[in-house]
Amino acid sequence: MLGSKVVDKLRERGRDAVAASPKTGVNALTGEGLADALTGADVVVDVPNSPSFEDDPVMEFFTKSTTNLAAAAKAAGVGHYVAVSIVGSDQLPKSGYLRAKVAQEKLIAQSEIPYSIVRATQFAEFTDAITASMTVGDEVRVPDALIQPIAAEDLAAEVARVAESEPLGGIENIGGPEKISFEQMARAALARQGEVKTVVVDPQVGYFGTPLSMNSLVTA
Ligand SMILES: NC(=O)c1ccc[n+]([C@@H]2O[C@H](COP(=O)([O-])OP(=O)(O)OC[C@H]3O[C@@H](n4cnc5c(N)ncnc54)[C@H](OP(=O)(O)O)[C@@H]3O)[C@@H](O)[C@H]2O)c1
Repeated sequence: MLGSKVVDKLRERGRDAVAASPKTGVNALTGEGLADALTGADVVVDVPNSPSFEDDPVMEFFTKSTTNLAAAAKAAGVGHYVAVSIVGSDQLPKSGYLRAKVAQEKLIAQSEIPYSIVRATQFAEFTDAITASMTVGDEVRVPDALIQPIAAEDLAAEVARVAESEPLGGIENIGGPEKISFEQMARAALARQGEVKTVVVDPQVGYFGTPLSMNSLVTA
């Protein structure tokens, strides 16, 4: 979703961007192809995603891939490490996915490579899947919280801008243009799909294993 769009944005801006993923022979978990992909690179943009969102595999994915990528980036003399994380991740330790993103952020901050972390809100393209994950039969049970969907294209433009800029040495947050309730998100998703289901706001419902408060997932 995101990586290919970042590559497009960088190329549109006249940058020499190398798309690197298992499909192009580069594997951040095994290290295969990393050294070649990074030869001559000024910046690395770390945006793979874990095939599993289960607690242990997702922790292993983000810690191992970022450890390998940072070591390869350091060896190649890369001067800027850019990664994408999630708004509010450090406030929601009950989510295994978000714990893994925070562990990834820490590895980057400790890597001794100048870095920028862009924490983003949920992709707009992901809201159908979020709604489906909260659906049981004819009912969608959603948390009593806000969400701020961002188009992956808009995030890609910001990640490309950050990659071209001086390292932040820290974290910036970016969210979509509107904060809406999970209820509104679910109703919009159902309307798009032409589905008729009951949407119930249930404060007990969490998000990827974590309870939410109203503003957990949105920018300040
Ligand atoms: N989804 C959201 O709402 C959201 C919000 C904020 C931040 N983020 C973050 O944005 C990043 C990208 O998410 P996404 O939704 O764009 O992911 P995605 O669509 O699931 O894409 C995953 C990418 O990771 C690559 N990949 C998988 N295993 C790999 C490995 N071992 N080595 C190298 N690359 C590997 C895949 O390569 P192939 O194409 O070769 O299979 C694919 O290109 C993640 O860090 C995620 O945490 C996501």
